[in-house]
Amino acid sequence: MENENKKIDQLFSSLGLLFMLAIVFVILIPGVFLYFQYVAPANEAKLTKLKDAEQAWAMNKDKVLAKEAEEKVEDGIHLSTGLIADADYKLVIQNCTACHSAKLITQNRADKDGWLTMIRWMQAEQKLWDLGENEDKILEYLAKNYAPQEKGRRTPLKDVDWYVLED
Ligand code: HEC
Repeated sequence: MENENKKIDQLFSSLGLLFMLAIVFVILIPGVFLYFQYVAPANEAKLTKLKDAEQAWAMNKDKVLAKEAEEKVEDGIHLSTGLIADADYKLVIQNCTACHSAKLITQNRADKDGWLTMIRWMQAEQKLWDLGENEDKILEYLAKNYAPQEKGRRTPLKDVDWYVLED
């Protein structure tokens, strides 16, 4: 009977051992393997990316901040040029601020024809380039945002049929 008990004990302890071994082989070893195979390299890659990004940021910080400041728009005004940030204003920045300040634009008022005349003059006399298909967009922008100011004044009458007052 005692012998029997011992055998059972032994059986259980070897079963326990087997169980432990099973855990080690089935879970631990594959776990460690998977970790080093997939998780660690992924973390490493993330870290390298982060470091690269950090380095890139450190190198370009000034440029990026300067560009941001340059592109800043507040209350509908593009701060660094003073231009109204309406549709296509970037075309105007690209084509109209290379030779002179945008102040020349913001201080002027004209209708579409007036703006076209100025552009043609600059093209004839000041080497302004052909604006191609952007010309019309630029003219629209200028005529809309820098139109002649007529606050409190009506536009002059045109094509009036005058008639003689009879007494
Ligand atoms: C290639 C150079 C150049 C470019 C690009 C240029 N301009 Fe000019 N612009 C000039 C010069 C030079 C003057 C004369 C400046 C002065 O009188 O001090 C001038 C004058 C002006 C004036 C003042 C005109 C006046 O009658 O007082 C306006 C407004 C103007 N430009 C608008 C524009 C607009 C809008 C654009 C974009 C479509 C543009 N400029 C692009 C060279 C250029």
